[in-house]
Amino acid sequence: MAATLKYHGHACFSMAADGHRVIMDPFISDNPQAVEELGDIDVDVVLISHVHSDHLGDGIELAKQCDALLIATYEVALYCERQGVEDVRPMHIGGWADLGFVTVKLTVAHHSSSIVTDDSIQMLGAASGFIVTMGGKRLYYPGDTALCADMELLGRLNDFDVATIPIGDTFTMGVDDGIIAAQLIGAKLNIPMHFNTFPVIAADPHEFVRRLEDEGLSGRVMEPGEEIELP
Ligand code: NI
Ligand code: MN
Repeated sequence: MAATLKYHGHACFSMAADGHRVIMDPFISDNPQAVEELGDIDVDVVLISHVHSDHLGDGIELAKQCDALLIATYEVALYCERQGVEDVRPMHIGGWADLGFVTVKLTVAHHSSSIVTDDSIQMLGAASGFIVTMGGKRLYYPGDTALCADMELLGRLNDFDVATIPIGDTFTMGVDDGIIAAQLIGAKLNIPMHFNTFPVIAADPHEFVRRLEDEGLSGRVMEPGEEIELP
């Protein structure tokens, strides 16, 4: 059993195994860190953690382009369906989806979910994270979130091979809380995300990895476009 994890920059990752690929928060065309064209990305499943523009991103267009299944919290999934995505699975926090080649669980994220335009601000659905299991590997993608006690519970109930940890502060955890999160989650490998895309979320991912190692944990800074085999 084998699985790979690819970093697309900011908070966008995709996980692949056995010829299937699942992407989380495909923010590509307006993502200053992205190194690919949207049209070059092919996925089976699109996971949307919440509808802030740096997470919903190109999700609707990508799901249409790939005839992919889009999974999100209830209102977010229905919104995407009304925007023309044919195959959606509305879920909510705590639920599992078993698609055969992948299982997905929606987890708590302490954050908001809103669509902001010039003349309106609309709350939509709830922010979530995901537990994604494929190719025998289990990923915890917390989404945009504060440090929270649920991470300890998730760490106790799951044997995570990898966790992606937001470290950019301001809108999510920063490095200090990211270290505590990694301790609570207990994944074999921790990968920083949601940093340096914009000046307001500047952070040093190498400091994060050094401090993880000081705590006896394993971390790795992935470059946008990089894909690794999960240990
Ligand atoms: Ni957000
Ligand atoms: Mn964000």
